[in-house]
Amino acid sequence: MSEDRSFSGREIAAVLTFVVLAGATALVSYRSGLNVAGGSGGAEVAAAVASAPVNGQALYVGNCAGCHGAQAQGGVGPGLANSAAWSEADFQAAVLHGKGAGGRTLAPVMPRFAEAGLDGKDATPEQIGAIHAYVKGL
Ligand code: HEC
Repeated sequence: MSEDRSFSGREIAAVLTFVVLAGATALVSYRSGLNVAGGSGGAEVAAAVASAPVNGQALYVGNCAGCHGAQAQGGVGPGLANSAAWSEADFQAAVLHGKGAGGRTLAPVMPRFAEAGLDGKDATPEQIGAIHAYVKGL
């Protein structure tokens, strides 16, 4: 039992490898904005996700096409050629709150996306605007 037991080459190599790998991981995480320690890097990632451009086509295909048709030609729900020409406010009222032309309450089959959400998350005006723009272009 000697007090001055020295480290073997393998032990030193293992410690050095760990230090180098941990440092490299931290550096790569930091540079890519992913702060694994949960510091400001996390906020940067959240901001990047929040500011990602909304994709009207993907939102329409995923949330509307099943009822209104791939080309908004109609199906379970009416064709959207008329409503595509509505003002942004009217279109949002229909999609978010089920209010049709002249304030008519739309049939309950049409989801109230303010409550139902889009893709499992709260629907934003930007998303509805992007869907509106996409439908106008069909
Ligand atoms: C489950 C089926 C269904 C889904 C999903 C659906 N709708 Fe509808 N939608 C309807 C029905 C049915 C109506 C007609 C309701 C009425 O006239 O009372 C309607 C009406 C509308 C209207 C009013 C049309 C008009 O001329 O009065 C708009 C605009 C509309 N939907 C947009 C959308 C958008 C955008 C999405 C996707 C974010 C969507 N809908 C998803 C079934 C659906």
